[in-house]
Amino acid sequence: MAELSQLLWAAQGVTDTQSRRRASPSAGALYPLELYAVVRERGVVGLPAGVYRYSPEDARMTMAKNGDMSGALRAAALDQEMVGLAAVSVVTTAVVQRTRSKYGERALQYVFQESGHAAENVFLQAVSLGLGTVMVGAFNEEEVHSVIGARPEERPIYIQPVGVPQHRGERSTLRRKALSREPDRHR
Ligand SMILES: Cc1cc2nc3c(=O)[nH]c(=O)nc-3n(C[C@H](O)[C@H](O)[C@H](O)COP(=O)(O)O)c2cc1C
Repeated sequence: MAELSQLLWAAQGVTDTQSRRRASPSAGALYPLELYAVVRERGVVGLPAGVYRYSPEDARMTMAKNGDMSGALRAAALDQEMVGLAAVSVVTTAVVQRTRSKYGERALQYVFQESGHAAENVFLQAVSLGLGTVMVGAFNEEEVHSVIGARPEERPIYIQPVGVPQHRGERSTLRRKALSREPDRHR
């Protein structure tokens, strides 16, 4: 749970309590991205299988769907095996209109750039925790939208299946250090 919390925080967590700015950059600080965690059965200790929506404001996850949706997510991701095997998949969606309201036609470009920043943060955080991940862009957008129960205005952009690689033991020191750095973020 602490590790999942840390992964989500790295993507969109609030880093400045006054300005409410976040861990990855956003054009005009409009923050169009939304994050979901699709948790497999027994994927995260202490967390029932389901789809969780991340709220950056209070660093909490709220269950949006109950039950193991990893098989359905795998099917939506052109049957890519690792999506079904991963303990958890982090799914990034975007509400493009948030950015369009200020930047018009540039919005889509900004949103894709931002999702790259956020996903790279998840990737770096995963590696520093001794976890494995991969960027997954090959999926059926409508199906992913339905599997995670996204709101109509959201557009799925990335899936990042995260799991424990076989070589993890070798990196456990790095992981312990990363987790002990920010104890208040592991709610
Ligand atoms: C936009 C984007 C979409 C990608 N989609 C997939 C995918 O659907 N499935 C997959 O296995 N890897 C996917 N990848 C990962 C690439 O295959 C991988 O980055 C590339 O083979 C280079 O390997 P490396 O990142 O380990 O150096 C994607 C990467 C990017 C940047």
